[in-house]
Amino acid sequence: MTRVRVAVVGLGYWGPQLVRNLYESPHAELAAVCDARPEALAPLARRYPGVRQATDLGEILADPEIEAVVVATPISTHYPLARAALESGKHTFVEKPLAGSLEEASELVAVATKLDLVLMPGHTFLYSPPVHAIRNLIASGELGEIYFVSTSRVNLGLHQSDASVIWDLGPHDFSILSYWLQEPPVRVSALSRGCVMPETPDVAFIQLEYASGVIANVELAWLAPSKLRRTTVVGSHKMVVYDDTSVEPVRVFDSGVNLPDPATFGEYRLSYRTGDIVSPRVAVAEPLELELEDFCTAIRTGSPLRSTPALGVEVVRIVEAAERSLAEGARVTVPDAAPPVGSRSA
Ligand SMILES: NC(=O)c1ccc[n+]([C@@H]2O[C@H](COP(=O)([O-])OP(=O)(O)OC[C@H]3O[C@@H](n4cnc5c(N)ncnc54)[C@H](O)[C@@H]3O)[C@@H](O)[C@H]2O)c1
Repeated sequence: MTRVRVAVVGLGYWGPQLVRNLYESPHAELAAVCDARPEALAPLARRYPGVRQATDLGEILADPEIEAVVVATPISTHYPLARAALESGKHTFVEKPLAGSLEEASELVAVATKLDLVLMPGHTFLYSPPVHAIRNLIASGELGEIYFVSTSRVNLGLHQSDASVIWDLGPHDFSILSYWLQEPPVRVSALSRGCVMPETPDVAFIQLEYASGVIANVELAWLAPSKLRRTTVVGSHKMVVYDDTSVEPVRVFDSGVNLPDPATFGEYRLSYRTGDIVSPRVAVAEPLELELEDFCTAIRTGSPLRSTPALGVEVVRIVEAAERSLAEGARVTVPDAAPPVGSRSA
């Protein structure tokens, strides 16, 4: 497989991580980097000599040698930059969320489909080995029927200038939940507060309901004394605790409650089971490396992406539903997903 010639646009907090991974990847050739701020380019000139630099994406898009563009700019710029990249014939990877509105996200998928280009949303956690391991535990039936999921993603900062905590951190949990449960939520209710800047929510509690009966609670905050990435999945057979900050990120609890005969419930004859706690061995791999490999392989071979554009659209749909719930102060229905688009970008 020949290496894909890639350019990265946006070299703020996250872009340099993508740059490093592409530079080291056997599947990609880091051909160019771009940022509107020259001071963001300067340190990369020292670290990656020979890699072309630009302050205007137009220069990069005009280069026929560049096959793919990775967009790591603020959310409000995802749509115009990704659209311009696609319309210049470049395969396009867009950091999460795919776009700043459902309409924009759907439009990007339509453009990519029409031009037969790979469009990939950067839902990095789908490539995290613990997340993938839990997906397998759920899919194999080991946990039994999934009852509920509760998750906390909180830390101090980074406050974003153009997005709420729901747009910033929500896509991580919404993409993980959709990947695990393999179904979209049907109803969403949200509560949030802008503690530091009243116009920008920096804490949010979001509840999701699924057609299968699963319920989920997602706590997001840029205001917390310490970093917490903790998710509990409770099933009828077993329970899982996923702690992304722990050396044992996945712990499976053989715990549960049995109700032998529902007719005797009044007598409270429940039996509680607290069995073994197992910490399965989880591969050590950098999710970003696996994610970018998936992007390059899809470009070269047409293989299906794990982080599909359809998921990118679904995540934006959930974020918008949460925003609508906040605006209306109500529990809202998530609109139905459009039928999947049958192409490389579906
Ligand atoms: N996958 C993850 O885990 C993860 C983690 C953090 C951030 N992100 C995503 O990465 C993206 C960037 O986030 P960030 O925190 O790095 O933002 P940032 O504000 O730190 O950096 C954005 C950079 O984009 C540049 N930029 C803006 N408009 C531009 C344009 N038109 N042309 C060229 N450069 C332009 C800015 O100068 C800045 O250097 C966001 O979409 C965010 O959601 C993803």
